[in-house]
Amino acid sequence: MDRARRVGGAALDVVERTLTAAGLGESPEKLGADARRYWEQPDGDRWRADSHWRDASVFAGTDLWSETGRRHLDLLRRMARVVEHPGPRGTVLEWGCGGGANAVHLAPEATAFVGVDLSAATLEECGRQVAAVTATPFRPVLIDPAEPEAAVAALRGTVDVFTCFYVFELIVSQEYGARLLRIAADLLTDDGLALVQIKYDTGSFGTRPRRRNYRSRLASMTTYRIDEFWELAHDCGLVPHAVHLVPRNELDERYAYFLLTRAGGPRAEAAR
Ligand SMILES: C[S@@+](CC[C@H](N)C(=O)[O-])C[C@H]1O[C@@H](n2cnc3c(N)ncnc32)[C@H](O)[C@@H]1O
Repeated sequence: MDRARRVGGAALDVVERTLTAAGLGESPEKLGADARRYWEQPDGDRWRADSHWRDASVFAGTDLWSETGRRHLDLLRRMARVVEHPGPRGTVLEWGCGGGANAVHLAPEATAFVGVDLSAATLEECGRQVAAVTATPFRPVLIDPAEPEAAVAALRGTVDVFTCFYVFELIVSQEYGARLLRIAADLLTDDGLALVQIKYDTGSFGTRPRRRNYRSRLASMTTYRIDEFWELAHDCGLVPHAVHLVPRNELDERYAYFLLTRAGGPRAEAAR
């Protein structure tokens, strides 16, 4: 029975990717509506796991929830040295903060921590987790996913460190990712730094963006080739300085982390 389900799942996977490769992915409107429906409505253990809530069964009995954030803090500190930046400090923002796995490590380093998400329940949970570890003020920002620019417009030019982990893979399109990169460029101070994680496409058929069947396949909805994302960041007003790869970890596979600064900012020179 299990084998039949696996074979069926693999066959469906090929069909879906073939349709998308042939230009028959679902429309951005449909995917956007499905994504909104999924994330905005808290719905049991799978939803809590996908939202990285501490109490989800996927994290039970291990330190993985906290370890995920600890690794990101360590990576941010190490990569920041490439551009001689002090790392997390000042106003730190996480786009798609989920249940706070990163926030509990980043917020204590910051003077203010901004958590952005499209789920009100998740923002509350993130705030609870942050309050349990630090007095750093937590500012929740609830976005409308159709207009992500609107809710953060007031923060333009004030964010010292912009982070985004485990989100680009589940956005609805590469074009939507470009909007998020433009937002990052807009929000950063001149001297600011961004660390953005994507799931990468190796060029093989099975690692292309899926763009169909949001609810079942959300973690491989959108992928980019590494060189393609590097160029895209440039086009969106950011300067990429370094990329760090994690081919596989306990949660999934094919992750690339890009260290970015604002084009025209004092640290952009370091990329030359
Ligand atoms: C897999 S969790 C990641 C949570 C956290 N970043 C982490 O690394 O533990 C994905 C989060 O992204 C949020 N999300 C999904 N689409 C989003 C969007 N377009 N903008 C902001 N947040 C989004 C979801 O509500 C969810 O909380």
